Amino acid sequence: MEVTTTASSWNEVRADVLAVLLEEGDPLAALADVDRALGGWIADAVRPADYMARRDRTLLLFTHGKAATGRMLLVGMGAPTEGHERADGVRRAAALAAREARTLRARRLAVWCPGIDPRDSAAAIVEGAHLGAYRYEAYKKSDEPRIEHLQILAPRNRQTQGALQRARVMAEATCFARDLVNGPPNEVTPTSLAQTARSIARQTGLRLTVYGPEQLRRMGAGGILAVGQGSRQPQQMIVLEYRPHRTQKTYALVGKGVTFDAGGLDIKTHEGMETMKSDMAGAAAVLAAMRALPTLDVRHRVYGVVGAVENMLGGAAFKPGDIVRAMNGKTIEINNTDAEGRVVLADCFSYVVRHNPDAIVDLATLTGAAMVALGHHAAAVIGNDRALVGDLIRAGQAAGERIWELPLYEEFAEAMRSDVADLKNSGGRYGGAQKGAAFLREFTGGRPWAHLDIAGPAFLDKSEGQAPHLPRGATGFGVRTLLRWLLSA
Ligand code: BES
Ligand code: MN
Ligand code: ZN
Repeated sequence: MEVTTTASSWNEVRADVLAVLLEEGDPLAALADVDRALGGWIADAVRPADYMARRDRTLLLFTHGKAATGRMLLVGMGAPTEGHERADGVRRAAALAAREARTLRARRLAVWCPGIDPRDSAAAIVEGAHLGAYRYEAYKKSDEPRIEHLQILAPRNRQTQGALQRARVMAEATCFARDLVNGPPNEVTPTSLAQTARSIARQTGLRLTVYGPEQLRRMGAGGILAVGQGSRQPQQMIVLEYRPHRTQKTYALVGKGVTFDAGGLDIKTHEGMETMKSDMAGAAAVLAAMRALPTLDVRHRVYGVVGAVENMLGGAAFKPGDIVRAMNGKTIEINNTDAEGRVVLADCFSYVVRHNPDAIVDLATLTGAAMVALGHHAAAVIGNDRALVGDLIRAGQAAGERIWELPLYEEFAEAMRSDVADLKNSGGRYGGAQKGAAFLREFTGGRPWAHLDIAGPAFLDKSEGQAPHLPRGATGFGVRTLLRWLLSA
């Protein structure tokens, strides 16, 4: 999608659809010019004055030769808000506009937000339009054309241009992650994720190292090897490195890349397994964020580490009772093969702490418990560093991604102790998200670290959670939060 600003007024801009985003209050005041030009009938069409500015409401008008664009789509944003919430409203309305524009078969969409300074709304419009226009089309082509050109009614201005380009890069990265997560698990395998990383490296100049089963054995990565040993798909640890000139800090992004989680011998139920192609959403977010770093000109050295495996039940599968040794030497008693993500991440953490990162942030669809606690509309964050946790929550607010902190009490760490090994991988149901995090903390080498459990928001199934900017299936959650965090850190 090409993105430009235009100084044209609403009646000069040439597009297939002009969307007008309106807050409740007085849409008729914002539309007074339009109403006059079109002959005074809008007042009747939108009466009572506020009804069409309600959230998610749309109204299609025809301009009958009075404007260069024939179709005008009014989109409601709901009650006026401030700050991040206002940006959330614009993002959502722009997404709805883009969605409707596609069903109207528009290739050129213009967006006008008359009530809000373009410096505050332009980036949210760009993000919303991309997120709302998104469809997963790899296996089923839509007959709706893609939106090729997005024009935002805003005066030309350097600051706005920069924000706009960053927003476009972040939104495209989000859609890149969505495509990976929506990809079927017979296509998206540990090996194909490594291939994806290879093409990212080729396109961007990031450094890539992939460790296959043989190298992982030599490295002593007994966790990732154990989880993947019941599958025909070879385990892969994927490491991308972004190294700009004159780096400030070193950060590590770690993603859980379980390309299918059958649960292993502690097999999942039918319902539990149905969406488990999404168990690599953390990996997808990390790969997508890494890919965007050079274009965004991030100033830090960043490692992106993905532990990619399939958790299956083949004859060689790991078993309850097995004891495995992670790369940092700690031993893990496997008491539940379905608590596999943390066992994979244990090795990824052990690997990356050797590069002395100033902070580690991991993204993982780690626990059903996080989803039970927070639903589909927030990720849980659990960490060992107050400042880092706060920074991520704030980056999430700016990105429109909710992140809610859960506590890391010592009792959770106690629950993860084993009688026969340093740790066990499951400490039982209650407080499951925090216990998972307590396990992970053992592999951070004392570095500042925050864990984002994205089990809820990463993937919206048939029944729940969709919104104009959040279609069914993969959401790409975390990509924009990570990028905003790295830009502000
Ligand atoms: N991938 C799942 C967690 C999950 C569940 C993600 C639902 C998205 C939606 C994870 O590997 C898992 O199975 N976790 C177990 C841990 C338990 C056995 C300690 C869980 O949450 O039940
Ligand atoms: Mn599992
Ligand atoms: Zn899993």
